[in-house]
Amino acid sequence: MTMCCPRSRSPARHLIVLCLALVSSSESFHISSLSLGVRLVTNRIDNSCVRRAALGSSDEETPELSRRDALSSTGGALASLLIGSSLSFGEVLPALAGTPPDYGTEKRTVVLTGANSGIGYDAATRLASRGHRVVLACRTQAKAEDTASRIRSELGRDDADVIPLECDLSSIASIDSFVRALKLSIEGGIDSLCLNAGLARNTEAKDVLRTKEGFELTVGTNHLGHFYLNHLLLSKVKKQTGRIVITASGVHDPDSPGGAQGMKATLGNLAGLEAGPDFEMVDGGSFNADKAYKDSKLCNVFFTRELQRRLENSGTGITANCFNPGLIVSTGLFRDQNQVFTKVFDIAATSLIKVGETPHWGGGSLEYMALDKAKVGKNGGLFYSAPPGSVKYGDAAFGDQFASAEVSKEARNDAKGRRLWELSEKLLGIKTA
Ligand SMILES: NC(=O)c1ccc[n+]([C@@H]2O[C@H](COP(=O)([O-])OP(=O)(O)OC[C@H]3O[C@@H](n4cnc5c(N)ncnc54)[C@H](OP(=O)(O)O)[C@@H]3O)[C@@H](O)[C@H]2O)c1
Repeated sequence: MTMCCPRSRSPARHLIVLCLALVSSSESFHISSLSLGVRLVTNRIDNSCVRRAALGSSDEETPELSRRDALSSTGGALASLLIGSSLSFGEVLPALAGTPPDYGTEKRTVVLTGANSGIGYDAATRLASRGHRVVLACRTQAKAEDTASRIRSELGRDDADVIPLECDLSSIASIDSFVRALKLSIEGGIDSLCLNAGLARNTEAKDVLRTKEGFELTVGTNHLGHFYLNHLLLSKVKKQTGRIVITASGVHDPDSPGGAQGMKATLGNLAGLEAGPDFEMVDGGSFNADKAYKDSKLCNVFFTRELQRRLENSGTGITANCFNPGLIVSTGLFRDQNQVFTKVFDIAATSLIKVGETPHWGGGSLEYMALDKAKVGKNGGLFYSAPPGSVKYGDAAFGDQFASAEVSKEARNDAKGRRLWELSEKLLGIKTA
């Protein structure tokens, strides 16, 4: 019998093993990006080792625990390890002073979906603090108004140029009215259209929720809602200097540590979308909430690349780029997951193992994508990302550690990207230019 965890004796390593066990055992904890981060740190510890760690055994013949059993047998130990003050896990995260990057001083108009929470809220606040006009596109008008008030109060500036507007991406009618209202609210073109909103359902959810048009909710909102919004707003984006920014994720890639956890993203042969609007999964399979989220992020990457190809063919200077903000457990994205574990994982990922980022860092990455001219403004069709835990570099990471990276093998299949585009048009009943 081989001992599989010879290095797991130190308290920190023990914690990592237990944490990984908990992550891999909790079906209700979403987003494999946490276990992804943990795996990056503990890449010598494979899943079977983790299962045995959960059992307190090193026997390779040990029968596999159910995920729930493993969860209950490790959760208490992990929680007490995390809460216990006698263990030292290294230095505290440095303050995120970081010099704010210089993105120039000319005022820009930025349209931002998902502006009321998490990465979007932080980015909106950063952008408004620089004096830019920010259109706060939120699911309801009340949320948009509240966001505008919070930003003004946080900045101590009643004159912050923020425009609150309702835009529910799970409803074509709402997107239509948003675009009408937006065209009345702003003069001139859009400098940056930031398609950031997103939802992730509880990974255990079995029921298929649907958008107003009947599309599966996750892909229907994260991909199709933004596809439609982009279609309506493209003519308002400044022809030579405008940009489109899409908040994607590392989990689109099954070869990334996060994307490798649980069911992996794949659009297969697009059989679900080919069959029509009542698809459960893009690839034609039965609904799986975890995979639906990952698939929606893969759609985001395909969308970015195909959009860029089309922009180049049409001769405009507009660029489309997407990015991975990293693992940020404390945003609202995890609201539908088990909250006890979400909190424990947030501490573990961000403060102890240090593979997680913060909403402020995530907002900085979005701001960089929206404003930077030196690098982001020059090329399109790219995916930006940073190594886990880059929050420690503060804003200095943007343009340094946070840079263009490779997309998944599947996302490089341009023929599939084109077909996804055509099917999205067909489902939405539109023909893009
Ligand atoms: N946090 C992470 O670890 C992580 C990692 C990689 C990528 N991302 C991506 O980052 C983006 C922002 O997520 P976040 O982490 O900041 O989570 P968040 O705090 O939950 O923000 C998501 C935003 O999307 C909005 N939204 C959801 N459904 C909508 C709809 N139908 N219409 C309009 N807006 C809708 C939410 O509005 P409500 O508040 O009204 O629901 C919220 O403002 C997402 O695209 C997510 O996939 C996050």
